[in-house]
Amino acid sequence: MRAAVRSCSGEQSSIRIKEVAQPVAGDGQVLVRVMAVGVNPADWQVAAGWMDGARSSQGPVIVGHEFSGIVEHVGPGCSDVSEGDAVIGRTDSEVAGALAEYVAVDESTLVGKPARLDHIEASSIAMTGVTAWQALVEAAGLGKRQKVLVHAGAGGVGATAIQLARHLGAYVSSTCSDRNLYYVLDLGAHRSIDYSRGRFEEIASERDVVLDSIGGRVTLRSIQATREGGTVVSIADQWTHPEYVPTGLDAMAQAWLRWRCQRLARRRGVRWLCLRTRTDARALRAVADLYESGVLRPQVSRIFEFEEAGDAIAMSRGLRVRGKLVVAVDRKVGRDASPSEGVLWDSQASYRSVSSKREQDEDGALRPNGDEEATWSDRPAR
Ligand SMILES: NC(=O)c1ccc[n+]([C@@H]2O[C@H](COP(=O)([O-])OP(=O)(O)OC[C@H]3O[C@@H](n4cnc5c(N)ncnc54)[C@H](OP(=O)(O)O)[C@@H]3O)[C@@H](O)[C@H]2O)c1
Repeated sequence: MRAAVRSCSGEQSSIRIKEVAQPVAGDGQVLVRVMAVGVNPADWQVAAGWMDGARSSQGPVIVGHEFSGIVEHVGPGCSDVSEGDAVIGRTDSEVAGALAEYVAVDESTLVGKPARLDHIEASSIAMTGVTAWQALVEAAGLGKRQKVLVHAGAGGVGATAIQLARHLGAYVSSTCSDRNLYYVLDLGAHRSIDYSRGRFEEIASERDVVLDSIGGRVTLRSIQATREGGTVVSIADQWTHPEYVPTGLDAMAQAWLRWRCQRLARRRGVRWLCLRTRTDARALRAVADLYESGVLRPQVSRIFEFEEAGDAIAMSRGLRVRGKLVVAVDRKVGRDASPSEGVLWDSQASYRSVSSKREQDEDGALRPNGDEEATWSDRPAR
């Protein structure tokens, strides 16, 4: 079969499409014919060798974590899926391996593809969806009438987290760059904050929950933005990834910053949780149901052909992607699909309908007219 494999030359690594042996479904496993694969920062991290120490397999390093596909073969001991079923899944970074024509995974990690989504859309939800769910629902226990700050609202995790937080009945503020202020509002945020202009901890203070995917001083400032008894969930690689190598900040500076975050959290009575999410079919099923019912909307901004997998992963490394990138492993599903509605809107003119209902603060943050955050906690839940 063909697979997107890490190829090393000296210190440099790149992604090549190569012929490798097709995996075999072992006990309790299922062989899936992959239709499409969502791209995540975890992919360039695997390509850069971050997970090499944790890998048990000696074979070629195949990248890719979240996928949508069709069950090709059911291994011994499986009872819940049948050949021909459309499924979605996510692999952990020690395994990766999804960006290939076939992947063998434990049956217990798969859930049915939401029928409402095509394979391209469905391939973009497992990693980001499970991360948003585990952070907001399981770790923070976000509930109705609470105030949440979601960092990087225009990214894969952030775009899902905004929609999920709205569904949970929270008041949602989110940081992004100037070009994404309206996009983030369109996702359902009540207020979008340009991180290059405003001090988010002043615009969105006294939060019940902050989802921190940025790290560094943003974590410290996020703890400042949280009320006593509130929770900061950090998923930033700096705090959660075992193979994170400090860049810019040296290791001592990072240890110093961690200590300051812990001390500030203690002083302010804030829970600071560092979360590394894992494959979890229960969480994935909950997320898939929300896509099936239309509560969550997929945010695919660009579709790449299989041969372009290396370009997709390189683009993801820049941390400037809006929504999600997807690689169409099966050429036909790529041909039949187009980016998700809304995600490509770029000019502010496209947002005239949204913008007419918004006011811009002096610090550049956008909020809905007449929707006063101050009275949010007294309002009935949506
Ligand atoms: N711990 C875990 O289990 C776990 C799981 C998933 C992801 N992660 C990590 O979480 C991070 C986010 O993941 P992702 O999939 O959402 O990545 P992503 O989709 O690549 O995020 C890209 C987005 O980040 C935004 N961004 C960049 N710098 C920002 C800043 N300083 N403030 C606010 N927004 C900023 C960009 O928006 P603008 O262009 O508007 O700046 C862009 O839309 C990654 O570092 C990833 O490795 C960790």
